[in-house]
Amino acid sequence: MTAAAAPGIEPETREHLMSAARDAATRAYAPYSKFHVGAALLFADGSVVTGANVENASYGLSLCAETVAAAKVLSEDWRGGLVAVAVHGGMVDAGGHIAPGADPVTPCGRCRQVISEVAQLGGTDPLVICMGAAETVDIRLSQLLPMAFGPANLA
Ligand code: THU
Repeated sequence: MTAAAAPGIEPETREHLMSAARDAATRAYAPYSKFHVGAALLFADGSVVTGANVENASYGLSLCAETVAAAKVLSEDWRGGLVAVAVHGGMVDAGGHIAPGADPVTPCGRCRQVISEVAQLGGTDPLVICMGAAETVDIRLSQLLPMAFGPANLA
């Protein structure tokens, strides 16, 4: 199946989604890296599902924010076409303030694949908004993860 590029989003909607990602980052459980990440997934019906990273004392078991959000989506009511994803992250200081780095936070390789599963179910190529203090990059998922493996490969 060829994914349709999800339509661009309105500036207000984009700002709302970025704000949801910032807010989600405040709920991260990241006592080991102290790098708090929030992800916000926007669906065609307007619903927004968020996630934050959840670390573990056994470091390798930690879950990224995007994966937590995707698990919420797929384990609750799946919401159809994934239009956009915003990702925000930064180191937290002793006062709980999150300071994003200058560079945009791009989803890790595993998260690209996990987001792709949600996108392929709805047949879209979502915009991924990678947020940073100096620069925010909007990029299609298909550019972050070309030739993705997905449900169609198993049909
Ligand atoms: N992390 C995310 O939540 N999403 C990403 O895309 C990159 C990394 C988390 C994992 C770990 O809890 C912390 O950031 C530091 O790597």
